[in-house]
Amino acid sequence: MCAAGTGLGGELSDDKKLRERVPLSFSFEWFDEVSSTNDVARQLAESGAAEGTVVVSKSQTAGRGRHSRRWFSPEGGLYFTLILRPQSPAAKAQLLAIAGALAVADAIELATLTSPQLKWPNDIYLLGEKVGGILTETQVSGEFVKLALLGIGVNVQRPDALVPGSLQQGAVWLSDIGRTAPDTKELLTAVLGSFTAWYQRLQSSDFATMRDAYNRRDLLIGKDLEVETRDGVVVGRSKGIDSRGALLVSDVSGATIAVTEGEVCSWS
Ligand code: BTN
Repeated sequence: MCAAGTGLGGELSDDKKLRERVPLSFSFEWFDEVSSTNDVARQLAESGAAEGTVVVSKSQTAGRGRHSRRWFSPEGGLYFTLILRPQSPAAKAQLLAIAGALAVADAIELATLTSPQLKWPNDIYLLGEKVGGILTETQVSGEFVKLALLGIGVNVQRPDALVPGSLQQGAVWLSDIGRTAPDTKELLTAVLGSFTAWYQRLQSSDFATMRDAYNRRDLLIGKDLEVETRDGVVVGRSKGIDSRGALLVSDVSGATIAVTEGEVCSWS
């Protein structure tokens, strides 16, 4: 005899509803120059733009990064913001950016045959230097993320213009590692293709697969580090991320601390 099930016409479990979400479909808004693609995306989202709307610009006059830093955005880079309406638990919001970072790393790997690494929470590194970053801005309603603006920047063609002093060390462009830089539109297509798969895993609560993929690319795993958080500096050894996207740090006493926000300021 069959065990009791939902049966025809029965209510789907929440998990089943999540698994049956349709994949993302994209529509594009192209610009030559904007202040920040996140700003344009916000305006579009507030006027009802659908999930999957992608705002792409050749350059930005006020590109921004995490912690209110400037994101140098001359022509030749990839700058875009993806509008998402995930309705995923706010406690898992960090995983949206993690999905973005995994997608950028996959796309760079495909385009350059090199293996990018990830620095918590969502910086993309190549040959030990930063090649891309992600700025996620979310609107939460109750316990769910109602709107997420996933802003992605990748250094593609090293600019002829003077690179700001703060970037002269620690940043790398894809053109530095090959004879020609990948085409930005092809890179965008590859990022979005890979993101679709990671987003689907996120929506179907397959957090362990995301965690494992991240930890395989983790630049910091096993390293001694210092993380600046709102509550002070956490010092210890990185054990990778957990399935919420928190950084696990084992301190001198052997205790494991799960850091949910902050900036890794040094590692060795
Ligand atoms: C970081 O590493 O601090 C995040 C950088 C995010 C930059 C991208 S470029 C496209 C989008 N628009 C912005 O103003 N920022 C993000």
